[in-house]
Amino acid sequence: MKVIHSIIELKETLCTCRSKGQTVGLVPTMGALHDGHASLVKRSVAENDVTVVSIFLNPTQFNDPKDLERYPRTLEADCDLLAACGAQIAFAPSVKEVYPEPDTRVFSYPPTDTVMEGAFRPGHFNGVCQIVSKLFSYVEPDKAYFGEKDYQQICVIRRMVEDLGLQLEIVPCPVVREESGLARSSRNTLLSEQERTIAANIHRVLNESRHLVASVQAVHDFVVTKINAIPGLEVQYFNIVDGITLADINDWKEASSVVGCITVFCGNVPIRLIDHIRYK
Ligand code: PAF
Repeated sequence: MKVIHSIIELKETLCTCRSKGQTVGLVPTMGALHDGHASLVKRSVAENDVTVVSIFLNPTQFNDPKDLERYPRTLEADCDLLAACGAQIAFAPSVKEVYPEPDTRVFSYPPTDTVMEGAFRPGHFNGVCQIVSKLFSYVEPDKAYFGEKDYQQICVIRRMVEDLGLQLEIVPCPVVREESGLARSSRNTLLSEQERTIAANIHRVLNESRHLVASVQAVHDFVVTKINAIPGLEVQYFNIVDGITLADINDWKEASSVVGCITVFCGNVPIRLIDHIRYK
């Protein structure tokens, strides 16, 4: 596996691949890779001739400097995992390489980027669009792979791809879970063993809520009440939304795809965990 740090070298390498008619898959990541990322990379390796995995802790999507500071950085282990998954290129640029000048572009796709994470982390999705649009322009992938764990992120990126008229396929990949049901996340390494056990209740309660025959409001209240009753967990938001526009719904019949998106604080630090459940 080639580890590339410069944009020019990346473009030249991919130009050679394309001249041989090879297809290119991109898996954007911020590093601290785990089984969830491995599943995206393996899927890209299976579906493309060349897989590029970007490892870039993108500062413009962090609205809380402390969150950026404590984000795990594990480049060497990340490269080992990528090589084992069969990726051909790890692209790990510096912040200066990606942002020689501050990125002043503004992306706006309401309501997908203004609700939920968009409301609680102002500027977050603008930063995501800034980096993902740059990666798309460096790599020009045929397909780009994103984990469904960040459900809202996929909806925003789809809107951006449409808006910019980009010709690539966005491939959403299912959430990979720990045996307990906890969604795999780089942030899980910041949880103690006990907190991890507690955090597993998030998925358990969401799953239970799928089996209720009740109104949208009653399902919402069930999830929030049950999770808040568990010591060490505190719901920041739980929105039951149209699975495409992410607008709130009040009745199950309002949308053909319905998803419940949740963010929960876990533990003393506390660590912010996100998850979702598909109702239909
Ligand atoms: O999902 C992530 O890890 C990041 O938001 C992404 C897509 C790599 C952009 O920095």
